[in-house]
Amino acid sequence: DVAHHVLRDGHKIPQLGFGTYPMDDAEAEALLPEALWRGYRLLDTAVNYGNERGVGRGIRHSGISRDDIFLTSKIPGRDHGRESVRRSLEGSLRRLGTDYLDLYLIHWPNPGVDQYVQTWQAMLEARDEGLIRSVGVSNFLPEHLLRLEAETGEMPVVNQVELHPQYQQEALRAFHQEHRILTQAWSPLGRKTDLLQSDWLAEIGRRQGRTPAQVVLRWHVQSGIVPIPKSSNPERMAENIDVFEWDLTDEQMERLRMMHTGISGSGFDPAAHEEM
Ligand code: A2P
Repeated sequence: DVAHHVLRDGHKIPQLGFGTYPMDDAEAEALLPEALWRGYRLLDTAVNYGNERGVGRGIRHSGISRDDIFLTSKIPGRDHGRESVRRSLEGSLRRLGTDYLDLYLIHWPNPGVDQYVQTWQAMLEARDEGLIRSVGVSNFLPEHLLRLEAETGEMPVVNQVELHPQYQQEALRAFHQEHRILTQAWSPLGRKTDLLQSDWLAEIGRRQGRTPAQVVLRWHVQSGIVPIPKSSNPERMAENIDVFEWDLTDEQMERLRMMHTGISGSGFDPAAHEEM
């Protein structure tokens, strides 16, 4: 079973999740039961992925109770603003076929549009009405997080960012720790980088009897980061969740720490904050 963290707001969150980008509705519908049957309980989608209907259908096909699932979606940049959040959220709930989200994130800060504070305020209200259990953000920099706190008195409980051994986000993680924000990792396996081809990972994997992907995901979990790997392949789904009954040694963790290159796999530039 996947262990849990407790968020600052008291809600429990699985220590590892299942990513659904880039899946379309049909793929999500077919694959979500496969993931749920293999033990995943945190499911991560977004309006921008265009697969919320498929995710909702997949959950229902699985036969697993909605209440046993931690469901996340994200509000797109085009729906930022005091008035549009409610409509966007209701659309997500309708497509997913549920009456609440466990976690709702602002997908990107879009500081050029400068509506993320108003968006955040409206999300806090939707939470107080019971449509959302926990509220968070994605791809935010410390300056954006500090502004939310200054203007609304409340920091997110989660910030989901690109993070993997070649792109470790150490300064941001220290900021998160100081403010009790949980770090979630998108692209936890490095996606377009050559991360999984690393000789060091192969060597650690040989010693542990594990694959390079498992070594990377165990590094996330052991670092207190919640990785959200995506796989469309049932064998790799099972492989990716099998990272709870064994440990990396301190020396192996240190080896992984040294793999940081600072090169992002997505090419996303945090300083430009453009929505992708
Ligand atoms: P696939 O869906 O065919 O398994 P990330 O979550 O970092 O974005 O990485 C997702 C990519 O990594 C997908 O292309 C996925 O392909 C691939 N992937 C997922 N799990 C594994 C694994 N255990 N070993 C190798 N590649 C993987």
